Amino acid sequence: MSSLPDAKLLPEADSSVLQIWGGHPLRGHIKVSGAKNSALVLMAGALLCSEDCRIRNVPLLADVERMGQVLSALGVSLERNGDILDINARDFSTSKAPYELVTQLRASFFAIGAILARLGVAQMPLPGGCAIGARPVDLHVRGLQAMGAEVQIEHGICNAHVLSSDGRLKGAKIYLDSPSVGATETLMMAATLADGETILDNAAREPEVVDLANFCNSMGAKIQGAGTSTITIQGVRKLHSTDYTVIPDRIEAGTFLVAGAITRSDLLLSPVVPEHLLPVIFKLQEMGVPIVEEAPNSLRILPADTLKAADIETLPHPGFPTDMQAPFMALLAVAEGDSLINETVFENRLRHASELNRLGADIRVKGNIAFVRGVPLLSGAPVLGSDLRAAAALVVAGLAASGKTTIKGLQFLDRGYDRLDLKLQQVGAKIQRLGETGTDAELIENGNNSASVST
Ligand code: EPZ
Repeated sequence: MSSLPDAKLLPEADSSVLQIWGGHPLRGHIKVSGAKNSALVLMAGALLCSEDCRIRNVPLLADVERMGQVLSALGVSLERNGDILDINARDFSTSKAPYELVTQLRASFFAIGAILARLGVAQMPLPGGCAIGARPVDLHVRGLQAMGAEVQIEHGICNAHVLSSDGRLKGAKIYLDSPSVGATETLMMAATLADGETILDNAAREPEVVDLANFCNSMGAKIQGAGTSTITIQGVRKLHSTDYTVIPDRIEAGTFLVAGAITRSDLLLSPVVPEHLLPVIFKLQEMGVPIVEEAPNSLRILPADTLKAADIETLPHPGFPTDMQAPFMALLAVAEGDSLINETVFENRLRHASELNRLGADIRVKGNIAFVRGVPLLSGAPVLGSDLRAAAALVVAGLAASGKTTIKGLQFLDRGYDRLDLKLQQVGAKIQRLGETGTDAELIENGNNSASVST
């Protein structure tokens, strides 16, 4: 079994490019890493506990490193060994998170709930908007206010402190105007150490929310109903140590399924939780792509005869995930017929359409709707990823395009995909990462092997 090199061997993301020679079917087994959007919030959740927290299956991502830097700045001790992260927040005493780090990593804002619950005060920089939308935090703030915190936003900082004399938040009944993943996670963490019962109504139901609840419960929290629209949390005074394993990344797995579909490949993915991927699996099957659950915790994708057009509307879970919209746009670009994509979760998440058109796609965008007219073949070109999933869509398109595709903007890709190019190489993709000079890069030319990937 060949193993993947660890992160420090990779050249600086923002100076390197990916080169892909498309049109080659992939074959073999790909190991799916732990979920980014779970690992990040579990790291924040460890702030709730003053004992040792061991988190396993932590992906190797720039965002995870950045969250680690935020926690270290708060006085938390962290140690990483491979995909195991040992965290101890016993000496965590600083309530002020570093501006430059939080503004670069939106998920670190969700730690405000745990900081407030543990210390009774928090100064958290606003995460600010990003390429895909304004990303306000009003639902987080309103929920914390309902639990008895005074929250003021000044100079880009969210200053919060608990009003009650015992310094504890109070249980409350909270209705979320929209089922925000981040707001649900922030408030679930805050309520874990609050005095009394909290009910979160219209809560997010994403698998990562459930993973956070399970993680907190493994430390002695009392959270029920995660995965449904109503979550009930009985506050406790103290949590204890835990040893917890992060769920597999459903978006990474979904991206590999789309890569397999667009290249007419035979790929086996594991570990996966098929239930987490139902909207993705059904949409691929609707397009004519065979997918089978060959073994527990694994999915096999087989070559499709034809790719049929399909319509997509992104929605909160269990609807079609917005994080899979971009890779699917690349796939629909080479499907037979016309498809409609309606992005309802984020207001500015169709920017990849113009880069896909550079590769020969025929996509028109109007507001949050993309009209995709399938073309027989894409052709390679230099393109730029504008955000994490947009960059992944360009990798998927490059795998199918004739000739060479060169992708810039890898700083986005490496934030959310654990060594995507190396995993694809090992199942036969003609892909390489080049440093700025085009010479000092890791040039790995892959023969036609079908070795499986292990980390
Ligand atoms: C999480 O972001 C994920 N990030 C996103 O993944 C994912 O796209 C998103 O959930 C939806 O599934 C992490 O978990 C770190 P939201 P989050 O709060 O929590 C609006 C990726 O590619 N809103 O559910 O920030 C918001 O503007 C990333 O891995 C408010 O209006 O998403 C958006 O339109 C991208 N007020 C909608 O709700 C609030 O207070 C959904 O946002 C909060 C959110």
